[in-house]
Amino acid sequence: MKPAEDLFKNVVSHAKEYGFIFQSSEIYDGLSAVYDYAQLGVLLKNNIRTYWWEAMVRLHENIVGLDAAILMHPTTWKASGHVDAFNDPLIDNKDSKKRYRADVLIEDYVAKLEAKIDKEVQKADKRFGDAFDKEQFLATNGRVIEIRERSETIIKRMSKSLEEENLADVKALIEELEIVCPVSGSKNWTEVKQFNLMFGTKLGASAENAMELYLRPETAQGIFVNFLNVQKTGRMKIPFGIAQTGKAFRNEIVARQFIFRMREFEQMEMQFFIPPGTQKTWYEHWKETRLKWHLSLGMGQENYRFHDHEKLAHYADAAADIEFKFPFGFKELEGIHSRTDFDLSRHESFSGKKMQYYDAEQEQSYTPYVIETSIGLDRMFLAVFSSSLQEEELENGTRTVMRIPAVLAPYKAAVLPLVKKDGLPELAHQIIDDLKFDFNVAYDEKDAVGRRYRRQDAIGTPFCITVDHQSLEDQTVTIRHRDSMEQERIAISELKNVLDREVSLAAWLKKLEA
Ligand code: GAP
Repeated sequence: MKPAEDLFKNVVSHAKEYGFIFQSSEIYDGLSAVYDYAQLGVLLKNNIRTYWWEAMVRLHENIVGLDAAILMHPTTWKASGHVDAFNDPLIDNKDSKKRYRADVLIEDYVAKLEAKIDKEVQKADKRFGDAFDKEQFLATNGRVIEIRERSETIIKRMSKSLEEENLADVKALIEELEIVCPVSGSKNWTEVKQFNLMFGTKLGASAENAMELYLRPETAQGIFVNFLNVQKTGRMKIPFGIAQTGKAFRNEIVARQFIFRMREFEQMEMQFFIPPGTQKTWYEHWKETRLKWHLSLGMGQENYRFHDHEKLAHYADAAADIEFKFPFGFKELEGIHSRTDFDLSRHESFSGKKMQYYDAEQEQSYTPYVIETSIGLDRMFLAVFSSSLQEEELENGTRTVMRIPAVLAPYKAAVLPLVKKDGLPELAHQIIDDLKFDFNVAYDEKDAVGRRYRRQDAIGTPFCITVDHQSLEDQTVTIRHRDSMEQERIAISELKNVLDREVSLAAWLKKLEA
């Protein structure tokens, strides 16, 4: 097995080589943590967005959509708390002049400690062979318990200090742990300071009249400020939700791990408005519903876990992450937050406009509570991409295959004429003309058919449809399955049925409802 670092490098290079993702402004040496989605990337990204949108909006009678602007009145961000509290704790190394997130330095230190547990497990596995019981070993081994306790103590102290804004203690912790700068190797650190993550910009032509604005750091606030507009014009009754996808911007300091942490990224968020007092039940409901959505894609139950937050954001009374096993370990993929009535109440007090809902059943007005589900589209892309990319040993060599869930695959099928003559390309194009209104289908006539199969495997196309001389006689084709590589001969008239069943959005949404 390849080490995780190699797997990740492979993900980055495959994404570029096959036209999924390019570095932004590459000809000018790129812009750090900003990426462009290329010809295949944009298809995969659109499919992920659509699968989320349709599962959220089409399948829920009480959820509607919205597409709010990126630029919002600047008071929005005072009300939301982002001007005062959307900060990262930063520390500089005086020798290398490099800037780091203080919490990330500490978390990396703890990650290295925890990697020692894996080493202990590997050693014990070798020593005990078949008799090795991993669970028991983890629960009883003295060294493992000691490392775990140490890690927990460090994380608890860091969380407490950050919560209490005790930045001096965060620095003290870095010094006590003897963390060194990865570039200079020195422990010559500055004080820890808070740094606001919002990007500023200006509206207006003249310097005197320009209005200072922010690029939105989350899409959620566009939903909150429109809450009553949507509720009234859509005659929505609580409980109901508003869903939105769109760009968000954060001036991330530690921007690394490819599209995991970007400065310009896309979110898919849903705010669900509920009566106060019901937040616990709805929070659990949305945790379960969102996990079900992830699991429906078949990327392996073992690759997901919940992480309940100890340190809560300024707006939440409960929060959990759905974590995914990326090549660099389990990390946040989606957040589910019980946001109380914080946002609506704050907008009410900052705007002076009532943000309350009249509940006809309860015969009273109240400020609704909110459960939020928030997932990064790019991060979901990375989850799909990294878990799909596999190197497979075959009898006659290896193949690179992307086992992308079929509903998300950029192309659902590729139509391949066996040779470039005898009317086979014409028949192949007829098939495409028939399928293209329902499915995104590719055409490829270059090279031997085996090489063409490999090319489609490497971009995740679930089916290859080969047109040969027999096709001209009996109107049949061979259809090859990406995952099993099995081939079968079927009538051309059956192709649409097969694709409908296996790759169509409707078929996958039905599975989600089952
Ligand atoms: N409205 C709530 C909110 O924005 P968040 O946990 O800060 O919460 C939600 O972000 C999701 O957005 C994350 O779970 C992650 O998937 C994605 N996300 C956040 N920052 C990101 C970044 N810099 N690059 C890519 N995705 C990001």
